[in-house]
Amino acid sequence: MKNIRAVKGTCDILAGEIEIWQEIERVVRDVMALYGYSEIRTPVFEETGLFARSIGEDTDIVGKEMYTFEDKGGRSLTLRPEGTASVVRAFIEHSLDQRGLPQSLWYMGPMFRQERPQKGRQRQFHQFGVEVIGSPSPAVDAEVMMLFDMIAERLGLGDRLFSINSIGGEESRALYRDVLVSFLGTVKDRLCDDCQRRMVTNPLRVLDCKVPSCREAVHSSGSLPKTVDYLTDSDKEHFESVRKYLDDNGVTYSVDTFLVRGFDYYTGTVFEMNCESLGAQSAVMGGGRYDALVKELGGPGLPAVGFACGMERLAIVLREAPDRKTPINTGDVTVYVVTPGAETDSRALSCAESLRRKGISAVSGSSDRSMKAQMKAASRSGASYAVIVEPEDNIVSVRHMDRSEQEKMTFDAFISRLSGD
Ligand code: HAM
Repeated sequence: MKNIRAVKGTCDILAGEIEIWQEIERVVRDVMALYGYSEIRTPVFEETGLFARSIGEDTDIVGKEMYTFEDKGGRSLTLRPEGTASVVRAFIEHSLDQRGLPQSLWYMGPMFRQERPQKGRQRQFHQFGVEVIGSPSPAVDAEVMMLFDMIAERLGLGDRLFSINSIGGEESRALYRDVLVSFLGTVKDRLCDDCQRRMVTNPLRVLDCKVPSCREAVHSSGSLPKTVDYLTDSDKEHFESVRKYLDDNGVTYSVDTFLVRGFDYYTGTVFEMNCESLGAQSAVMGGGRYDALVKELGGPGLPAVGFACGMERLAIVLREAPDRKTPINTGDVTVYVVTPGAETDSRALSCAESLRRKGISAVSGSSDRSMKAQMKAASRSGASYAVIVEPEDNIVSVRHMDRSEQEKMTFDAFISRLSGD
């Protein structure tokens, strides 16, 4: 019978790789606390309508990539393809505005999109992200980017450069839409079928199409109008303030006047950070302002801004980053207890347990494996010490793994030395 394997586009994260994830998670938690953001956990599946209404019917995600199924009660449910819609749903459902504004929330967890798997692109992937709901201030747009920048810096990600743009609010987008539709009319014959339809229903989405011939027609023409040239005075002012705050705080960015993101909910500032080492799937994070979504989903008319970072992609970039300060910690066990024979097994078990009770991490070997095999396992575990249980009561031989020195002592002396008693 054929062995069952992990589903295409999903993967197991094993020891040796999990350490970098744990480090990312630790840094994320620390930095979120520094900025005073609160964690929120939402379910991994939601009513399908939530995503259709927020992300937009015309987007690739809703059109082609969602894991949607009917449950036994006939409800249409979808595995969340992203976190923003769920956070906004929870914000409205629990009237979080009553707890004071803005609400600065963060989350971390798996997301699901049925895309073609490749390096940095999976069907189950993980994001951490933030959503700040209830402030229209450009300072918050800058703050969420600064927050990501600090996480990336602490993790040792060199050469951080945001791409930023503004697609403007409703009024600006209506102005832009008109000129965009005229422009698209000039390249219409070269657009894919979806984009020919989108030209009428949702022209901004054409800029985000992934079909190569479409991208070529739109982006290589040299005459694609820029969103920033059609911003209202207040949208322009907002964008200028975001840039000033980033400048004031030493956050590096470049303005990419053609950056539009693949969701319908964005209304102003949009941003991404791209890393060359990721190849084709270069965006490690992305986000922006979405001032209309809370109301659109039935809540109060509150503005919001947020981002999400792809953790698989961040892990790839970190592994390849030349100036990572913190080494990847592979295994943090301090002591490996070696038991030469069946008669010392029970003492080995007790030694390991005594160490753990003192807060010292320990692994106990077992005499069904040879001493040599246990010493090999000790070395593989990254332990600082191998402790060999000797036949005499309370006596152990302590091997310093990095120096290959061995000394005999009582186990009590060893434990006091390690715990500094
Ligand atoms: P997004 O750009 O779709 O935005 O995703 C954010 C990040 O998730 C991407 O930059 C990428 O690193 C990662 N990502 C997306 N799809 C995949 C995939 N199939 N495999 C691996 N990584 C992936 C959002 O999700 C928005 N909710 C961000 C946001 C929050 N905007 C406002 N608030």
